[in-house]
This record gives sequence, C-alpha cells and structure tokens, in this order.
Amino acid sequence: MTATHAFWLAGREATGETTFDVTSPWDGRLVGEVSVPTDAQVEEAVAAAYAVRDEFAATPAHVRAAALDHVSRRLVERTEEIARLISAENGKPIKWARGEVGRAVSVFRFAAEEARRFNGGEAQRLDTDLGGQGRLALTRRFPKGVVLGIAPFNFPLNLCAHKIAPAIAAGVPIILKPAPATPLSGLVIGELLGETGTTLPAGSWSILPVANDRMPALVQDPRLPVISFTGSEKVGYAIMDSVPRKHCTLELGGNGAAVVLADYASDEDLDWAANRIATFSNYQGGQSCISVQRVIADASVYERLLPRIVAAVEAQVTGDPSDDATDVGPLVSEDAAKRVEAWVQEAVEAGAQLLTGGKRDGASYAPTVLVDVPADTTLSCEEVFGPVLTVRKVDGEGEAFAAVNDSKYGLQAGVFTHDLQTAFRAHRALEVGGVVIGDVPSYRADQMPYGGAKQSGVGREGVQFAMDDYTYERVMVLTGLNL
Ligand code: SIN
Repeated sequence: MTATHAFWLAGREATGETTFDVTSPWDGRLVGEVSVPTDAQVEEAVAAAYAVRDEFAATPAHVRAAALDHVSRRLVERTEEIARLISAENGKPIKWARGEVGRAVSVFRFAAEEARRFNGGEAQRLDTDLGGQGRLALTRRFPKGVVLGIAPFNFPLNLCAHKIAPAIAAGVPIILKPAPATPLSGLVIGELLGETGTTLPAGSWSILPVANDRMPALVQDPRLPVISFTGSEKVGYAIMDSVPRKHCTLELGGNGAAVVLADYASDEDLDWAANRIATFSNYQGGQSCISVQRVIADASVYERLLPRIVAAVEAQVTGDPSDDATDVGPLVSEDAAKRVEAWVQEAVEAGAQLLTGGKRDGASYAPTVLVDVPADTTLSCEEVFGPVLTVRKVDGEGEAFAAVNDSKYGLQAGVFTHDLQTAFRAHRALEVGGVVIGDVPSYRADQMPYGGAKQSGVGREGVQFAMDDYTYERVMVLTGLNL
C-alpha cells in the first residue's frame, strides 16, 4: 500500500480531505498518493504567511541561514533516495536526477551564504551638492510581500528550490505550489525544512499541491503581491495579464540555439560540439527550457558537423529511467509525446528531412534530428520541449546571429567559437538572457542570473537575483551628520 504524502501548511505537516495519484510516465505505476489542501487550509496558509511578514523579515540572518544549511546537508545525505523519487515521478533518467539533487544542494547552500551577506545596507554620501550637506543615504532591501511560487514539472526539486530558498534567505514568506504531475520532490523540501522545527516562524513557508483550477483565486489574492512562475508561455502571460498590478517574474519557454562558427573546425572541436549538442538536446527528454532545439552551423563546418551530430544522437541510450545507463527516458506523459510526434510530422509534410528518430512509443519519443525545416512550421517557431533537434546551414557570423534572433524566444544561446572578439560580439548581438561561449545554451550555474528576453519571460532567478526580485530598495536619509 502507498502511504499518503502530506503537504506543508504554515511549516507543519497536514492532510486534507481528498488525494490524487502520482504515476510514473515510464510504466504507469503508482509512485505516490498526495493529499490535497482544502480551501480552508489554503486560506489558513495565506493568512499565516501574511501575518508573519514583519516577524520573518526581522528574523536574524543566522537563523535563516542555519535552516537553509540544514536542508542542503540533508539533501546530500538523502541524495540517492530523492533522485529515485524524481526519476520515478518525472521519468528523468537517474543520472540526471542525481545531478538535479546536487544542484538543489548548491541552491540551498548559496541561499544560506546569501542570507548572511544580504542587506547590510549601502551608504551613499549626499553632500556632493550643497543641499545634501551633512546627509547620508542608507539603502536596504525590504520584502515586497508574500510570494506565490509556482513551479514546473521538468526540474521538480531544483526549480522548487529556486523559489523557496531565496525567499527564506531574504526573510520573505512564500506559498509554493509544485507541479501536479510531480509534487513529491517539492514536498521533500517541506520534510527537510520541517526538521528545523520552530526555527523559522510558523507561516513563513507552505508547500501546497493546490489543483490548477483553484489557482486563479490564489493568483488574485491581494495578500500575495509577488508571483514567481516557471512554466509555459501561455500560462505565464495569462497569469500576468490577469494581475497587471502585481509583480510577476516569469521564467517561460525557449527554443535554444547552438551556433557553431567557422573557427570551431578541428576534429576535436567538432566532436566536442556534436557530443554536447546531442547530449543537451536530449537530456530530460529535451524537457528543459534551455535544451538545444536549433543548431545553426557555418557552411564551412556544416558537412563535417552534421554526421557527427547524427551519430552522437543515435548513441544516446533510451529506455528505463531507473537504469544507470539510460540517457533519455520518457516525456512527462503520452500526450506530451503525441504533441512532439505531431509537430515533427507537420515539419516532414512541409518538406523537412528526417535524419534519425521520429518514432513514438507510448510516452517515449526517439531522439530526432531534422534538416531543411521550413521556417513557418510549428517546430521552427515554438518550443518543442522534446528530444528534437533541427540543423541549419548559414554563411558567417552575421547570418548565424540573425538566425538565433529570428525567434520570439530569447532565453539562452550557445556559441562555439575560440575567438574572444566574436564572443563579445555575440554577447552584444544576441537577444537572450544568457550567452554561453564554447558550449550549449543548456549550461546553467544556479548562482548566475537566469531568465529570458522577448517571450521567454520577465525578471531573473538565480539565488541572489531572486532575493532582489522578492524585495525592493528603501532608502533612509540621515541628517545633520559630520561626514
Ligand atoms: C528550465 O527549464 O528553465 C530550467 C533549466 C535549468 O535549471 O537547468
């Protein structure tokens, strides 16, 4: 019998009146049964978060840092078990799931470190003008208000960590909602925070697997003025449009491009580029906003690069996500795999050439490479969120950068070049939130600012940047000083 997973209401474990099942996308087995909070329990969590705002903001840094350090340490101790849980509920291959736990360990550790550094205040002398003589400005940051964090299914632990750890570090209460398909990994964070007992004030954090159809009421709640959402472009903008006066941070989609330029031409260079591209178009079944979807290769290297990419994609081991050897598991659901199948079919019917893959088996979709994909197909324009790669030939750096920018998205781009001048030109030219030189767009370090330009979103995550996002500057002017 599967035990029911409780949720976390104002820092304590609780159960509601109904449950829902979480099943494995690989074999459909039951992974867990999750208790759903009632409307009254959701209200209790929001009221508690709202009431504790001032107390939490005034909690000493060492107290918040100790709780965050505790979670980081416990994630290390429970890595294998939590990785197995991520893999079971999400279908993520176990090796990638272990990597995700490792990243969450770092996120909580960074948050503990930032909590100790944060908000010492910045002093600015004002006697640079006659009217400011004897005056000093001291700027410190204060919470904008309770955060409503909404996390996606693709990194069910680490993207929950990216919402809740910075909130605790900055002393900002948070209501966190994990994704309905993968709530168990997020609820583990509740277990670990719960172990800190009454260290953090009750109400400062809740983790509630609220059903999607009950979210509009929470989004509208005036006690939750900050919304931090990671997920689809459609849902993200619907949220923002429904609450135009709230502060919304949106981490949305992308159709990540990897550019391979003419100077990246040795056999070693092309092997590295092809292997990185193949790995990161397929990791998590391509279900990452920064997975490689588009390869844009200079004509001078294209003919030598393409067969390497196809070979490296074909070498990806597909299968059971619990197997150590597996590189590519299923997508999150059969519906997701059917959507990918339909997009590839549409591209092929429009004239694209399928070089490998293109087959679906239940929720699994074979790693796929296409060339000659018409620019107006869904596959070219939208985020595929599946293990599918398109490759295109261009003439020179200018055409390559224009091709990257020829997208409504702008999350991250990778540029394979050795030339520092080219790197700086790419940094200036590419309309994205991050440019990765010498690697794929999929590289993310959790302390970096992370977020998009254009339709890829608004605002930045990355521990310190999320702390800034949840707070605002308030200046205090001191008068009559001997400066
Ligand atoms: C995302 O899919 O936006 C997150 C990618 C990551 O954290 O590596």
